[in-house]
Amino acid sequence: MCGIVGYIGKASAPSVLISGLRRLEYRGYDSAGMAILEDGSVVVSKAPGKVSALNDKAHADWPAERFSKSSTGIAHTRWATHGPPTEVNAHPHLDESGDIALVHNGIIENYRALRTRMEGKGHHFYSETDTEVLAHLIGDRYKGDLFQAVCDALSQVEGTFGIAVISAKEPGKIITARRGSPIVIGVGEGETIVASDASAIIAHTRQVIYLEDNDIAVVTADNVDIRDLHQVPVTREVSELGFDSAAAEKGGYEHFMLKEIHEQPDSLSNAIRGRLDFNLGSSVLSGMGSSPRELAEIQRVVLVGCGTSLHAGLVGEYAFEDLANIHAEVEQAAEFRYRNPIIGRTDLVVAISQSGETADTLAAVREANQKGAFVMGLCNVVGSTIARETGRGVYLHAGPEISVASTKAFTCQVAVMLMMALKLGRGRRFSRDEGMKFAREIESIPALVEKVIAQSDRIAEIAKRYANDEHAFFIGRGTMYPVALEGALKLKEISYIHAEGYHAAELKHGPIALLQEGTPVIALANDIPGKDKTLGNIEECRARGARILGIITEGDQEAAEAMDDFIEVPACHPLVATVPSVVALQLLAYHIANERGCEIDQPRNLAKSVTVE
Ligand code: F6R
Repeated sequence: MCGIVGYIGKASAPSVLISGLRRLEYRGYDSAGMAILEDGSVVVSKAPGKVSALNDKAHADWPAERFSKSSTGIAHTRWATHGPPTEVNAHPHLDESGDIALVHNGIIENYRALRTRMEGKGHHFYSETDTEVLAHLIGDRYKGDLFQAVCDALSQVEGTFGIAVISAKEPGKIITARRGSPIVIGVGEGETIVASDASAIIAHTRQVIYLEDNDIAVVTADNVDIRDLHQVPVTREVSELGFDSAAAEKGGYEHFMLKEIHEQPDSLSNAIRGRLDFNLGSSVLSGMGSSPRELAEIQRVVLVGCGTSLHAGLVGEYAFEDLANIHAEVEQAAEFRYRNPIIGRTDLVVAISQSGETADTLAAVREANQKGAFVMGLCNVVGSTIARETGRGVYLHAGPEISVASTKAFTCQVAVMLMMALKLGRGRRFSRDEGMKFAREIESIPALVEKVIAQSDRIAEIAKRYANDEHAFFIGRGTMYPVALEGALKLKEISYIHAEGYHAAELKHGPIALLQEGTPVIALANDIPGKDKTLGNIEECRARGARILGIITEGDQEAAEAMDDFIEVPACHPLVATVPSVVALQLLAYHIANERGCEIDQPRNLAKSVTVE
C-alpha cells in the first residue's frame, strides 16, 4: 500500500528519498513522486509506474546540482484509491500557493465536502485525490505557522492519515502526523527520516520513534518535537529496530518470495526458540501476559484476520479446539468489525496480522476492546499498531517479510498458534506427558519444512506441467482445508491463474461442474483422518478428466497411485502437517509464476500492507 519517506539532514534529499522509496516498493504501488525544498521554493517530480520511472524523470528534468543541493524533502509511493494511477494523481500534492507540499497515506472521508468548500473560496484542484484537498486545507489555514496550520486542518478531517508536510516558507522542518496510518521517525546523527515503515529508515539509523494516533511532530535534522492535536507535548520512547538492512535484501535469491520460502526453517526456529517448556509439557509465551487462572476463564477463542492471516486463523481454529478443548471461531476482520459481534470478557480475541497495520484487523481489535474481550495480537512487525493496541500477544519473530505474497508469516502464525493452544491445552486437557509429546511435534517443524524445501527443483519440474493452465482447484479436508485455501490464494495472486480452494466434500455441491478434460486439481491427500474420503473425491475428479497433483505423506503408496503427480511431505501430526504442506504449495505457486514470467515480488493490483478498508 502507499509509502511515505521524508528526509531532513545533510545528505542529498532526492537520492535518500529515491532509495527510501525503493525499500518501500514491496508494499505495492502504482505511481511515485517527491517534493524537495530548494532556494525558497518547492520542486516536485512525479511519475506513474515504478520508482525507477520517477528516478529517470527527475534526472532528466532536474539540473544535476539540485541532487546535491537539496537536503529536505518528502516522497511517496501511491496505491490508487481516489482516481487512477496518473502523474497528476500521484503525491506529493501542493496547496493553492504552491508553497506547501504534502504526502499522505490513508483516506480523507469528508474530502468531497472540504473540496466544495475550498472551491467556493477560489481554490483550484488538478487531481481526483482526497490528498490534494488536505494540502489545500493546510494552505488555507496557514497564517505563518506550518505546525499550527497542519493542526487546524487535521482537526477538520474525518478518516485516516499518515502525513508528511514541507513548506518553502519554513525550510528546515518536516511536519508529520498520524491517525490510523503508521508513521515511524528515524533519529540519526544530524539527520531525521520520516517513513510509513521502518524498512525505509534502517539504512540510516536503528533508533526510531513510533507515532501514536493523533500525534503530530515537528521534525528537524536534530530534533523531534511531538505533540497531540491540541499541541500538548507528548513523550514517545525511542526504540531500537530489531533487524538490519541485510535482512531486507534479496540475499542472492531471484525474488524476495523465494528467499522468504527458503528462510522458513530459520524463521520457524526463531518463532519457536525458547518458547517450549519440555519440563512442564507446555509453552512459555510471556507476551500472553496472563496467569493460568486468567487463562482458565477463557471460554471461547475468536480469531480475526484477512487473507493469508485469515487462513492461518482457520488452522488455529482446529488447534484451539483439538488441543485446548476451547470453542474456537474464525472471522474475517471486516465482517467482525461491522457485524456487532457477541463477545465479552470470557472471550479471547486473537488478531492475526503480519504487518500489524491491516485496517480491518485493527478495527476488529478496537471493537473487541470496546466489548471488554481479552484481546491479543499475533503480529510480525514489532511496534506495529495492532501489537501496540492489543498490548499483549505473541510476536512471530519471522524477520521482515518483503514479498507481497505472504509465506513465512503464515507458517510462523501457525507455529505460534500451536504453542498458544498447547499452553491453553495444558491448563484444560493435556497431561504433562501429552503436552511434552506435542511440544516435540512443534519442535520438529523447521526440520519438516527443510525436507520440503529440499524438493524445490523437483517441484519446479512439476510446475512446468501446470504453468499453462488458466484454472485450478485446490481441495482438502480437516486441517488441510485451510491449506487448500491458502494454496489457491498463493497461486492466483502471483501467477494470475484462476484458482479456487474448496473443502473436498464441497466440490460435488457445485464446483465439480467446472471440471473437464485436463483441469488441474491440487489435492491435499495427507495421511490424516479423512484421507480415504479425499481419495474418494479425487476419483470423482478423475472420472471427469481432471489431472491430479497430490500433496501426500512420504511413502504413502496408496495415495501416490491415485495421482498424476505428487509432492511428498513428512509424516507428522495433522495440525503440524499444515506447515510443510503449505510450503509445498508456496513452492508450487512460485515455480508456476516464475515459469509464466510473472512479476512475483510485485503482483499486479496488490499491496503488502492494506491500510484502507
Ligand atoms: C496474501 C497476503 C494478504 C495478507 C493480508 C493480511 O499473500 O499477503 O492476503 O495476508 O493482506 O495482511 P496482514 O497479515 O499484514 O494483516
